[in-house]
Amino acid sequence: MIDTHCHIDFPDFDSDREGVIAEARRNGVDRLINIGADIPSSRRSLELAKTNDNIYCTVGVHPHDSKTLTPAFLKEMETMTTSRKVVGIGEIGLDYYRNLSPHDIQKNAFVQQLDLAVTLHLPVVIHVREAMDDALQIMKGYTGRLRGVFHCFPGTTEQALRLAEMGFLISVNGVLTYKNSRMAKVAQEVELETILLETDSPYLTPDPYRGKRNEPAHVSIVCRKLAELRRVDTAEIDKITTRNAEKLFKLVEIFGQ
Ligand code: NI
Repeated sequence: MIDTHCHIDFPDFDSDREGVIAEARRNGVDRLINIGADIPSSRRSLELAKTNDNIYCTVGVHPHDSKTLTPAFLKEMETMTTSRKVVGIGEIGLDYYRNLSPHDIQKNAFVQQLDLAVTLHLPVVIHVREAMDDALQIMKGYTGRLRGVFHCFPGTTEQALRLAEMGFLISVNGVLTYKNSRMAKVAQEVELETILLETDSPYLTPDPYRGKRNEPAHVSIVCRKLAELRRVDTAEIDKITTRNAEKLFKLVEIFGQ
């Protein structure tokens, strides 16, 4: 299994990062994609990827921090992507729930980073909260030029199907295990070929560990839950979602088996 979205560079893991990576492996989660969320975490993510064979990373500025996206950092992001361990641009997007940056600044930072991804031929990792209509509107302009994933998918089945037509995947996580989660409904209704697994560690811990720190080993719980929802073998879910991630982030093409 691959945890396609985690933040183990965060200070939450400072005391036991190596142990967390080992525990993931013991649970069958042998590759991780550590996601940049702002300037310092993008740098830390790359450092982590460079020093661990089984960790890849993305670089990008989250909508919360869109105010901090400068031309200088866009340039630095471009330089960072010359490392083969950088497999995408993200997480980028729109967040009108917490509204930590004004909407026009968020949209501007989103578009600038989407343009960079097009130029660099890299997939994007997108974070959207309470802003799906605006995000879809913006994404329409990139149809056919860009691939990526809507992480922690916040939308409806109809929106997921539209995104699939535009070449975008969705990713699911511990939210699948929460009562009455819309994510669980969507995950039953779309093609398995459009789904990735993730944890968003240290956030969104699956039941029965809710309330504790999340970690990449818990992708195995997400995988089992999806298997249960779809009435398919866990091994089959593992196989299909791993292949989806390898294809999107070109893991086999670039890194071999
Ligand atoms: Ni995240």
